[in-house]
Amino acid sequence: MTNPQPDDEAPRTDSSDTEVVSRARAVVPGGAQTGLRAQAYDCGDVAFESADGATLTTVEGEELTDYHLAFGPILLGHGHPEVDSAVRETIDRGVLYGAGTTELEAEVAERLADLLPSVEMVNFCNSGSEATYHAIRLARAHTGNEKLLKFEGCYHGWHDYVDVSVYPPAEALGDVDGGPERKPFAESDGMLSSAVENTVVVPFNNPEALREAMEIHGDELAGVILEPVLHSVGCLRPTDEFVAVLDAETSERDVPLIFDEVITAFRHAAGGMQSELGVSPDLTCVAKAMGNGYPVAAVGGRRELLAQAGGDNESGVVISGTYSGHPVGLSAAKATLDIVASEEVPELLADLGDRYRAGLRDLLDDHGIEGRVVGFRSIFSLQFGVTGEPRDYEDVAGLDEERFREFAQGMRDRGHFFTPNPYKRHHLSLAHGDEDLAAYLDDADEALMEM
Ligand SMILES: Cc1ncc(COP(=O)(O)O)c(C=O)c1O
Repeated sequence: MTNPQPDDEAPRTDSSDTEVVSRARAVVPGGAQTGLRAQAYDCGDVAFESADGATLTTVEGEELTDYHLAFGPILLGHGHPEVDSAVRETIDRGVLYGAGTTELEAEVAERLADLLPSVEMVNFCNSGSEATYHAIRLARAHTGNEKLLKFEGCYHGWHDYVDVSVYPPAEALGDVDGGPERKPFAESDGMLSSAVENTVVVPFNNPEALREAMEIHGDELAGVILEPVLHSVGCLRPTDEFVAVLDAETSERDVPLIFDEVITAFRHAAGGMQSELGVSPDLTCVAKAMGNGYPVAAVGGRRELLAQAGGDNESGVVISGTYSGHPVGLSAAKATLDIVASEEVPELLADLGDRYRAGLRDLLDDHGIEGRVVGFRSIFSLQFGVTGEPRDYEDVAGLDEERFREFAQGMRDRGHFFTPNPYKRHHLSLAHGDEDLAAYLDDADEALMEM
């Protein structure tokens, strides 16, 4: 039997982006590889042909300045020559061995251990979700406990262990029985209820709630996981008090602390946020900016925790994956990390980010529009209908979604691309510069005026 073909309404031709998208819609659920990617269609069809530096080109030949950067991995710009040529050299030698090791594995693991202060050993995988999955399994094996404490609004990947209370609806907000916790909200149908029930959800940046939740659940926790700067809903920066309580409570109670640095590591600081917050997590997850767009990720951490996966001790944690330590991702990581370590990339981008934020704030003031510009270093978000520095998910949940989509459409029409999802963020890369900044602010001025 032959495979079913798309119906007549989705002809297999490529002459315009609309046709590409309609072909995709016929055979791909939602017409894109994830629901979040499909949201780009809110600002019109978008099918990409190529990417170079800070520029995306659609199949129709439209050029867009890219502030999406694939949700953050593209740190050095699309098609960075040193990264791409490292990958090409690797491919010429051989792509996958699936037994023993390669010199690259040791080199990149050493590099991660050098850069990230808490990391002694490393296991590679291919996505941030895999990294958090492995970290939690290691933490569960180490403690013998099942419950995981996570914070409302943090995203740690798509798997059942963590896809809980990322964007909880209003009815899921509020304390459970007057206590410190929130009712865990399953983000997807089809999730294992025991995974959801074993998640203790606490509001971000609330030291008191954290302290109380640790008092209640400390003995039954496998770990505490968080994004050290919470970017899954724009940008929530942790307060000093929150960080101090997090550090004290996890270390005094001997509960493994897992830093999900999938967005923050190498983008915000070569040593991750752990190099600045004065906290030494037990486990760290990295991905995204580590490979400048190539699929590569890792879980790293204390020797005692990682060694459980060594296959030579009694606890025997299984970490597996046909493509783990893939030479393509690792050669991209090696080249990217070399550049990050030697060229002060996070610092350069932080300065550019400050100028985008300052410009946007001036524009909101000039136009008398209620809103705020939030962000950290190379990441920023414009949020309408809300003011003040947000501290937790509830401070973000009331933003004006429709107005943001209007702004995204206005900017898309003027050649600037970012996801119209109002909870997401703009990213900057080394390929962005003063000209992009000036063009962005001029066009934002017009787009805001139109609104
Ligand atoms: C903080 C954080 N952790 C984990 C993940 C999951 O990574 P991946 O999409 O590579 O599975 C993401 C993805 O956006 C993320 O932002």
